[in-house]
Amino acid sequence: MHWLTVHLILTLITYSLSGQATAQSRYDLVNAAESGDSLRGTLVSRSTASPELGPDLLYLKLDAIGRGSDTIHIKITDPSSTRWEVPLTLYPSSNNHKGGGAANATLKLEWAPSPFSISAKREEEKEKSGPPLFSTLGHELIFKDQYLQLTTSVPEDAVIYGLGERTSSSGLPLLRNMSYTMWNRDRPSLFPDENLYGSHPFIMIVQPDGSTHGILLFSSNAMDVNVSHDAVQYRVVGGMLDVYCFAGPTPDLVMEQYTRVIGRPTVPPFWSLGFHQCKYGYKSLAEVAAVVENYTAAEIPLEAIWTDIDYMSGFRDFTFNEDRWPQKPFKEWVQKLHDSNIAWVPIVDPGIMVDPEYDAYNKGLAADIFIKEGSGEPYKGQVWPGPTHWPDFIHPDTQDYWQQQLEAFHDLAAFDGLWIDMNEASNFIEDPIAPSDGKRPFALTRSTFLGSGQYVSHWTGDNAATWNDLRWSVSSILSSGLHGIPHVGADICGFTGFTTEELCNRWILLGAFYPFARDHSDFNWGYQELYRWPSVQEAGKKALGLRYRLLPHMYTAFQRAHEQGTPVARPLFYHWPADEHAHKAHGQFLLGHDILITPVLTEGATNVTGYFPQGVWHALWNGSADIDASKGGKHQTLNTPLGETNVHVRGGSVLSMQEAALTTAAVRASPLSLLVALPSLEELQALEGRHMHQAQLIAEGSLYVDDGVTLEDKWHMLHFAAYQVESAEGISGFLQIRGPAEQGNRGCSEVNHTLASVQVRGWQHPVSLVQVHAHQPPLAEHQVLTRAVELPSPRALQWQHQGSDLTVSGIDAHLSCSSSVSVEWGSGTAYA
Ligand SMILES: *[C@@H]1O[C@H](CO)[C@@H](O)[C@H](O)[C@H]1NC(C)=O
Ligand SMILES: *[C@@H]1O[C@H](CO)[C@@H](O)[C@H](O)[C@H]1NC(C)=O
Ligand SMILES: *[C@@H]1O[C@H](CO)[C@@H](O)[C@H](O)[C@H]1NC(C)=O
Ligand SMILES: *[C@@H]1O[C@H](CO)[C@@H](O)[C@H](O)[C@H]1NC(C)=O
Ligand SMILES: *[C@@H]1O[C@H](CO)[C@@H](O)[C@H](O)[C@H]1NC(C)=O
Ligand SMILES: *[C@@H]1O[C@H](CO)[C@@H](O)[C@H](O)[C@H]1NC(C)=O
Ligand SMILES: *[C@@H]1O[C@H](CO)[C@@H](O)[C@H](O)[C@H]1NC(C)=O
Repeated sequence: MHWLTVHLILTLITYSLSGQATAQSRYDLVNAAESGDSLRGTLVSRSTASPELGPDLLYLKLDAIGRGSDTIHIKITDPSSTRWEVPLTLYPSSNNHKGGGAANATLKLEWAPSPFSISAKREEEKEKSGPPLFSTLGHELIFKDQYLQLTTSVPEDAVIYGLGERTSSSGLPLLRNMSYTMWNRDRPSLFPDENLYGSHPFIMIVQPDGSTHGILLFSSNAMDVNVSHDAVQYRVVGGMLDVYCFAGPTPDLVMEQYTRVIGRPTVPPFWSLGFHQCKYGYKSLAEVAAVVENYTAAEIPLEAIWTDIDYMSGFRDFTFNEDRWPQKPFKEWVQKLHDSNIAWVPIVDPGIMVDPEYDAYNKGLAADIFIKEGSGEPYKGQVWPGPTHWPDFIHPDTQDYWQQQLEAFHDLAAFDGLWIDMNEASNFIEDPIAPSDGKRPFALTRSTFLGSGQYVSHWTGDNAATWNDLRWSVSSILSSGLHGIPHVGADICGFTGFTTEELCNRWILLGAFYPFARDHSDFNWGYQELYRWPSVQEAGKKALGLRYRLLPHMYTAFQRAHEQGTPVARPLFYHWPADEHAHKAHGQFLLGHDILITPVLTEGATNVTGYFPQGVWHALWNGSADIDASKGGKHQTLNTPLGETNVHVRGGSVLSMQEAALTTAAVRASPLSLLVALPSLEELQALEGRHMHQAQLIAEGSLYVDDGVTLEDKWHMLHFAAYQVESAEGISGFLQIRGPAEQGNRGCSEVNHTLASVQVRGWQHPVSLVQVHAHQPPLAEHQVLTRAVELPSPRALQWQHQGSDLTVSGIDAHLSCSSSVSVEWGSGTAYA
């Protein structure tokens, strides 16, 4: 047969099998050179695709590195000219390199020279026959000056997450047969399913067996991403094709790998985890001062008061309106706030008013740092102040200019953090403040891009005071966490529109558990401080009271985010990727590893149906019921009247809590209590009787300790492990507290906690003895104690055993970095 006939027949077979033409790359790979972990070569165009979009580039340079590691980086670019590339100085130096030592799954590359295609697969034995994680095979590759197209296959039955920022009306998973646009702009987040303030071209792909991988297109160019039933297609208007494939194979490992490239989130200052109040439209210094006084009088925690552009003179950054916001009294007021441990956070927009009488304008011109037009003149736009120039935040001299402006502003009134709005014009990332006393900066930004979490916290922008916005906020904050920005919240009670008492009540019951909690309302609408309605005041006191008690747990989750990229607020699928119900639990989330939040999100509702993945869930909120899902995940309807919500802690965890207070400073000064939440009776019984005298691990947790404010690398992690052991005398349990599980490069933190109490939830055996021990020498890692020195029993040591709850109080044990302390309970002693 003639080769042409064979070709025709094969083509016809292909057509009839797929029902359509199979697309192919129009490039061939030549001069392919494989060495070590890399594949390099040149792509040569065979024919032009879509000529109406301009000519294809004839030659492209291919660099694919990282095979044998958990991250493969494929870069396709123009070898003959410089094209726009995201400035790598904004990213960790590991950005260009293959994965680090924490590798679990490793990847291999498969490629074909003509037509060119490239695929990444896991090397693991069981994966060999499975679908590749990334594959351009059978898809067209297009590279023109202003149109680039790259397509990868994705499994049809996988659930896909990512491609923020948008408000999703359909929950967190992406929909198939949809096009998602990456073009960040000042578009209020009250509009669902549209591209908003940030661009994050990253996807996480979860297969039915729970195996998870990630794909990142490292590009700040505008693009459409088409997610079809079996492929994801990127259509980009410039730059280069710079792709990463992350092997996972768990959501946690994908986050670890992805944030290794884009940068890990910063640990926010401890105080910024408190509750914030903000409004656009506060009329005067007297009015904001009254807001603070009214919060104090209502005994609702208030950590920071914010001021919007209202305080400025003609919307000029770094100025005060002397009529209603006179600078000298303002400065004194801020000092008084600080004396009560309350922070002030002003807005600073990135645009500088064009005004020859304005210092920031003149200094910006002199430093020549404004963004320019083609003509060389500074680009002039219109925002709040009228004619405006924008500093070019990636210009080398801008940092100095901005720093000087902020220092002078700080002298006018000592702000504690900054709020950056109206920054969608460009995808800049800056070091927002480096205050002269070398404290950790806190900056909240609306616009974000890959890696913003290294520098800033985020709010989801201009939402509305509606029940839909309340509901949608859950996916929005979870999405931000998956994009590496874990310190995130939505405006509590809604920004635009009149909120209602019921909505604001439900919103604080949810928002108190956002990683970032701020009440914020718009100019033309009513006031919505929590003290405005008695029922909201009560809900706020209760919910924020629990938030403040949980701050040590939340702060530890931020350290996890900083070390490994793990989100603080996590979707249920994050820990149960193979559970299909967990992918559909759109109204719930985990706070850290162990707390499950199930809020009411519907008007008029007094119950809520939540999904409880396998395990036992102890109610942490008074009034909620414990849920035993130890035989398998289940849906449960929870009675939840207005003013109530549902907070559960996972059996098998040890939770750190402090005391509720009106400021985070007071929380930090309060003693520590530990909650030991035990697994289900069945799970515990499975351990019993089998290993006489052998300690069985039954619950675990950790606590991150630092000073909460400085950048000094002095910190440590305390580790908590609870065991049970059976002896002839019966069953006893003990909780071991051991430090330092990990510590900073400059050593341990000098901050010590005092352990006041331990609560054990789910202890079904008799208790006749409770003791506290200190261990000398300290316990080593994984050492389960056998010998112990009993502490002189504190006179105040008390315990109470009711049902299956055991509370031990009056412990008064000093927990420093090197402490080894244990608390024992049961009948008979665990120690020889
Ligand atoms: C790799 O990940 C799997 C699933 O999370 C886990 O079971 C396995 O122990 C991990 N292997 C290593 C070497 O970390
Ligand atoms: C998407 O479109 C494909 C056909 O192109 C169809 O087979 C598939 O069912 C669609 N999927 C959804 C979720 O609509
Ligand atoms: C991308 O998706 C949109 C929406 O589904 C569709 O209209 C468009 O044809 C798709 N484009 C391509 C090139 O597949
Ligand atoms: C503060 O509370 C007082 C007394 O209830 C009230 O008159 C005043 O309007 C409140 N001011 C603000 C700004 O909330
Ligand atoms: C939940 O509330 C609805 C009314 O909103 C009621 O019809 C339903 O019976 C309640 N379910 C439970 C299990 O209480
Ligand atoms: C539940 O309520 C009781 C009594 O008001 C209180 O002592 C206890 O601390 C509360 N527990 C929680 C977790 O809020
Ligand atoms: C914390 O405890 C350690 C060890 O007991 C001690 O050296 C240190 O001074 C304590 N720090 C503070 C601030 O009290």
